[in-house]
Amino acid sequence: MTASPSTPAYAPVVDRPVRWGVVGAGRIAAKVMGDLAGMPGGRLHAVASRSADRARAFADEHGAPVSYGSYDELLADPDVDAVYLATPHRQHHAVALAAVEAGKHLLVEKAFTVTHAGAQQVVDAARARGVFVMEAMWTRFQPAVGRLRELVADGAVGEVRSVRADLGLRVPFDPSDRLWDPAQGGGALLDLGVYPVAWLQMVLGGTPASLEVAGATGPNGVDAESTVLWRTEDGRHGVGTCSLLSPLPGQAAVFGTEGWIEVPPRFHHPDRVVLHRTGGGRSVETSEEVVAPATGTGYSHELDEVHRCLAAGLTESPTMPLDDTLAVMAVLEQALHALGVHHDEDPAAI
Ligand SMILES: NC(=O)c1ccc[n+]([C@@H]2O[C@H](COP(=O)([O-])OP(=O)(O)OC[C@H]3O[C@@H](n4cnc5c(N)ncnc54)[C@H](OP(=O)(O)O)[C@@H]3O)[C@@H](O)[C@H]2O)c1
Repeated sequence: MTASPSTPAYAPVVDRPVRWGVVGAGRIAAKVMGDLAGMPGGRLHAVASRSADRARAFADEHGAPVSYGSYDELLADPDVDAVYLATPHRQHHAVALAAVEAGKHLLVEKAFTVTHAGAQQVVDAARARGVFVMEAMWTRFQPAVGRLRELVADGAVGEVRSVRADLGLRVPFDPSDRLWDPAQGGGALLDLGVYPVAWLQMVLGGTPASLEVAGATGPNGVDAESTVLWRTEDGRHGVGTCSLLSPLPGQAAVFGTEGWIEVPPRFHHPDRVVLHRTGGGRSVETSEEVVAPATGTGYSHELDEVHRCLAAGLTESPTMPLDDTLAVMAVLEQALHALGVHHDEDPAAI
């Protein structure tokens, strides 16, 4: 049965904190759970690792009462309301499907999966099961990004015509590093390019009418750097660049007919945006800094969204809907294929 917005498909989580289970107790899980610690809307209940010792150590450090030495055990725990899935991207698909099957709500780290078909399977399963699923695209929930979206919607820069974003780090080649390892979904696009592409998708909406891609691969064939040019049906466009070879500044901007909004580095978790208005003339009339810092390290806002959605009985976030995730995955896959890179989901991730 597909959930309808008016009848929640599950009992909303009200009058108590959401009980979280973490799968994949690595670096990002530690940061995100650090932010959860200060939040009244949720608490860490359980942690699962492929190693019981690692799970116990993470549980001790982050105050989880329960730990498991396998992901299956956590998914079978009736006291877990929502799973935060923080394995490498190639290990998202199988775990996400198992979590949905177990009736768990789910926050899936970016990139959502390594293939568009894999993402579609997770989305279809979630919609059929009536559980909440969201990609952990924390950028969308940054207060400064929320202000930018309000300014754009209010016409502060006139009609938006184009957009750009870049994100890059110089990461020395090491085939065992998650960022370079194809067995973990390595490559620039899925790890870093997902942010510029999601930025273009947020501003331009939908999927591109056409996409051009330029880039290069590394010594083991994974994508090392690329630029995508996204064109819409009505002629608007966006440019997104990512790199594991160059330390790009991490800037973004939205350009309109009456000015532009600049997002200083790093745009994927900014504490401010700068609005430049021309008022339709040739030169800038006013420049205004709009400061809106994040709480904690910036992950509390996406967690808040999950808590809010579960209390309201929603199956998708209105701010980061699954169709947007699918659109981003379609662009990432098209770009990867253009560079000759083909990923597959890890069937043995659980
Ligand atoms: N939102 C953000 O700001 C942000 C930042 C960094 C990363 N991320 C995303 O978070 C995910 C994890 O990144 P991370 O940097 O935290 O990675 P990480 O430190 O390597 O942690 C990933 C964990 O996943 C588990 N795992 C399961 N299958 C694995 C496999 N086949 N190979 C390696 N580890 C495996 C491991 O835990 P056990 O073996 O203990 O189960 C490992 O500790 C990625 O999808 C990444 O894109 C998001």
